[in-house]
This record gives sequence, C-alpha cells and structure tokens, in this order.
Amino acid sequence: MMNIAGDKGKKAALLLFVLFVTAAHFLIPTEQHDYHRIHIIFRKLYYLPPVVAAAWYGLRGAVYTTAFISAVFSVHAFLDWPGNYMEQANQIGELVSFWVVGLVPGYLFDRQRLLMARLAKANEETYLALVSSLDMREKNTRLHSQRVRDYTLLLADRFGVAEEKKRAIGLGALLHDVGKIAVSDRILLKPGKLSDEEWTEMRKHPAEGYRLLIRISSLQEAAEIVHAHHEHFDGTGYPNGLKEEEIPLGARLFAVADVFDALTCDRPYRTAASYEEAARIIREKSGTYFEPAVIKVFEGIQPAEWEAIRKRHAAGDNGSL
Ligand SMILES: [Fe+2]
Repeated sequence: MMNIAGDKGKKAALLLFVLFVTAAHFLIPTEQHDYHRIHIIFRKLYYLPPVVAAAWYGLRGAVYTTAFISAVFSVHAFLDWPGNYMEQANQIGELVSFWVVGLVPGYLFDRQRLLMARLAKANEETYLALVSSLDMREKNTRLHSQRVRDYTLLLADRFGVAEEKKRAIGLGALLHDVGKIAVSDRILLKPGKLSDEEWTEMRKHPAEGYRLLIRISSLQEAAEIVHAHHEHFDGTGYPNGLKEEEIPLGARLFAVADVFDALTCDRPYRTAASYEEAARIIREKSGTYFEPAVIKVFEGIQPAEWEAIRKRHAAGDNGSL
C-alpha cells in the first residue's frame, strides 16, 4: 500500500462518509413505503467507501473499510432481517458485492502504483547513467552530480521545501550540467585558462541543458533550475543575470551546494578545504552569490551531516532520487 500525501484529510473524509452512510441506514425507518425507498437508496451508498478506500489506500485500505461496513451492514440486516426471501437474497448479494468492489480495484490500484514506481525508477536510472557518464568525462568521477543533488536536497529539507517540490529540485540539481554535452572536449577538458571565446562557449551550457530538458514534460521544473544554476543572487551570474526571487528556489539552494562540493573535494591544483574553511568562503558570498536565507539554513546544518552524504557516495552507494 502506498502512503499518499494529505493522508489525514483523506482519512477523515472517508471516516465521515462511512459514519454518515451507516447513520442514515440505521436511522431511516423501513416501515412506511416512502421511507423504505430512501432507506434503500442510502444502503446503496455502502458501495462507495470500499472503492474510495481502494483508490486512496490500495488493497489493504479496501479490506479494512469493506470489513467495517460489512460488519455494520450485517448488524443492521440481523436486527431487521426481512421475511421476504428475495430481499434476504438481495442483502446477502449486496454484502458479497461490497467485497468485489473493494478488493478488485484495491488490487488494480496497487498494481498500477507498483508499475508507476517501476517506471519512475527506470527513468531515474537513465538520468543517473547520463549524468554519471558526463561526470566521468569532465571530472573523472561518477558521483559529483549525485553528491551535489543530495547536498541540495539536504538544504531544501531544512529550508522547509514541500515534498513534491523537492523531487523537481533533486532532478534539477542532478542534471545541472547536462548541457555540457554540447561543449567540446577541447574546451571542457582544457587544463589551462580558457580564452574569452572559449568562456563564451562554456557559458552556453545552462541554456543548452534547458533546451534539452524542457521538451520532457516531467522535467520542466527541473529545466528551469538547470537554466538558472549559474545565476547569482545579486544578478551578476549568467546566462540571464537573474536576481533574488527571479532565480528559482531550487537554483538558489543548488548554488550553495555546488560551491560547497567544489571546495570540499580534491582538485588537481589544490587539496580539499576543511568544512570550516569552505563555510567561511561561502559565508563571505552571502548576499552576493548566495541568498542570505539559504546561508542561514546552511549554517544550521552540522558538519557531520554533510560528511555523512560524502561518505555514503564515497562508499559507492548512489542513494536514490
Ligand atoms: Fe554548470
């Protein structure tokens, strides 16, 4: 069974509906013909909770709900057992039908969720393969983008970003440099300084990445983050010189994670900075490169938490999206 966001509201709605139907069923008398008609209409509403429970909570939720309404229905049938043989058969038939309309969709919804989860996992594995090969080409490590994604998600988590939004932020961080696929090896792998012309080429990669991803409907929000991943909070970044709130939140969080990763990793020309050194450099850029609110969140995260992510990747565990 899959847990669904907004669970509390859904549980309350389902419970209220079940209580309403059972109360109406018990309280509306069967004696006069007109009342009996309304009574039977309300009795038909018992079919809905098993289906709703199946859709929201899968097979297990459908079983619990159907068991409950079957018990209530049976009590009523026992207290008011009709003398008419056809009506008796009708009530037993309804009882059996509750289970059919609960169990069949419950199974199908569970199966659909399982298939959707498998599809999402396959998509994620494809993205991981793509970014790992790009990281290998440029940085001689498979894990840079995945580590930066996890750093960005740690910041997003402490920033209080909603779960649905975190998925897009994670994908944006993971795929941030995908546009480098369009940058030639001569420029990307050049050991020395880049000429102005080469920098112009290099600076096209956010827009190239955006162009690649915006065509994929599930990556549109991530594409916006990729487009803005080299923007600076004060408007001095590229490609569009966006500032402050114009920069998507995911890109504002990513910017800190990316620089933190760059500073705390060994590079051919220098060894990795300590956490304190990296934090000092990042703090100095608060309000210029980085959003002060993000820096505040960054400072609230313990060094051991960053270290745990770094170690997890160093051990070859790629985590999950
Ligand atoms: Fe980049």
